[in-house]
Amino acid sequence: MALDLKPIPNDLRAFWMPFTANRQFKAAPRMFVAAENMHYTTADGRQVLDGTAGLWCCNAGHKRPKIVEAIQRQAAELDYAPAFQMGHPLAFELANRLVDMAPEGMEHVFYTNSGSESVETALKIALAYHRARGEGQRTRLIGRERGYHGVNFGGISVGGIVNNRKNFGTLLAGVDHLPHTHLPENAWTKGQPEHGAHLADELERIAALHGPETIAAVIVEPMAGSTGVLMPPKGYLERLREITRKHGILLIFDEVITGFGRLGSSFAAEHFGVQPDMITTAKGLTNGVIPMGAVLTSAEIHDAFMHGPDHLIELFHGYTYSGNPIACAAALGTLETYAEEGLFARAAELAPYWEEALHSLRDKPNVIDIRNMGLIGAVELAPIAGAPTKRAFSAFLKAYEKGLLIRTTGDIIALSPPLIIERGQIDEIVDTLGEVLEEVE
Ligand SMILES: Cc1ncc(COP(=O)(O)O)c(C=O)c1O
Repeated sequence: MALDLKPIPNDLRAFWMPFTANRQFKAAPRMFVAAENMHYTTADGRQVLDGTAGLWCCNAGHKRPKIVEAIQRQAAELDYAPAFQMGHPLAFELANRLVDMAPEGMEHVFYTNSGSESVETALKIALAYHRARGEGQRTRLIGRERGYHGVNFGGISVGGIVNNRKNFGTLLAGVDHLPHTHLPENAWTKGQPEHGAHLADELERIAALHGPETIAAVIVEPMAGSTGVLMPPKGYLERLREITRKHGILLIFDEVITGFGRLGSSFAAEHFGVQPDMITTAKGLTNGVIPMGAVLTSAEIHDAFMHGPDHLIELFHGYTYSGNPIACAAALGTLETYAEEGLFARAAELAPYWEEALHSLRDKPNVIDIRNMGLIGAVELAPIAGAPTKRAFSAFLKAYEKGLLIRTTGDIIALSPPLIIERGQIDEIVDTLGEVLEEVE
C-alpha cells in the first residue's frame, strides 16, 4: 500500500522533550504524524488507538470538523487582539457559554493558556480576594499529598508529587498538605470508594495548627488524575466543603482533567454535587487543539475586586494570550461539538460498559488494583523490586507496538479515551492491554 508519509527529522538532539525519558525516546522514537477520530497515525504508517485522549484532553477525538473549521476561519479573520484593555467578541461569547454550562455559582471566567496557569491564577485570585475584603492575613494555601496541579511554582507547592517538587528549591512558603485518599482497603472499587471521608477532617487539624483565619484556600482535584486516578471517597468532598465554608476558606476544584465530560457530566462539581468557589480548567476546553485554560469563579469573588475608581485595573494579573481569538474559536467549536453529539451523556452511558470491561483485567499478572469512574480508569501494577515504574513503562512501550496508546504514572496505567469511543474499541483497549500484561515481565 502506498503511504503518504511525512519526513522525520534525522537529528533529534535539539528538542528537550517534556516529562520524557529523552535518551530512551531518541534511541527509538515514537512519532505521530496524523490523527483522526479515535486514532493516531505513526510515522511508519501504523494506526494507534487513542486510549488516553492525547493527554486527557482530546475529549471529542481528533480532527473534528467544527473545531478545524473554527480555527481556520478565525485565523483568516482576526488572528490576535491585545488581551489587556481591549476585547473581541468571541472571548465574551465563550465566557457566557462557559458560565451557562458551569455548575451553579460559577459566574465569571478568567482566561489562561494551560492548566498550570489556571492553577497559578486561581491561587493568586484567592490571595488577592481575601486582601480585597480586608483579610490579608489569609495567606496560607492547602493542597494534598499526591495532588497534581501543573508544574509552575504555585502548582508544585500545593501539589504533592515528590519528583515534581524535590529538585526545585524551597517552593512557596506557607503551604500545607492534606493526606492523600488512596487507601489499600479501597482496592478494586468501582466508582467512589467507601472508605476515607474522615481524611477530610485533617483540614480541621491543619486549621487548628495554623489558625483557620490564616488560610486562604484549599485546592484539590475532585478526582485526582495525573497521580494515578484516585477517586474521592464517598462523603469526602462534601466534608471538605463543610469545613472550608465553616472557616471562610475558599475551595478550589482543579478540574483540568475532570472538566468537559470526563466523568459523564460537564464538571466533577456537578457530578459530585459539591459547589466549590473556583474551578480551574484547560485541556478539554479546546479539545487540546489550541493551548487554553480558564478559571471559573463565583460572583462573590469577582465582585470583591470591583471597587475603587473606574479607570483603575482591578486585578494585576493576565497573560498576553488570555482569550486569544483563535483559542476562543477552537473552544467554541469544541463546546458545539460536545453539545451536538451529546458527548457528556455518551460518557455517562458508556461508563458501566467501560467499568465491566476494565475490571475483567483483574486476574492478569501483577495487577494489584483496578479503579474507574465515568470514562476514566486505572490498572495498578505491582512494581518490580528495586525498579519502580519499569513494569508500567514496559507495558506502555508494548501497548504502543500493538497499536494502543496508554499513559503510565509510576506503576499505574491510566486510561481516558475520547468520549466518542465505541464499545468495540473499549473491547480492543482491554484485549490489547490484557495481551500486554501477559507479556511484560
Ligand atoms: C489537575 C491538573 N491540573 C493542572 C494540570 C496542568 O495542566 P498543563 O499541563 O496544561 O499545564 C494538569 C495536567 O495534567 C492536571 O491534571
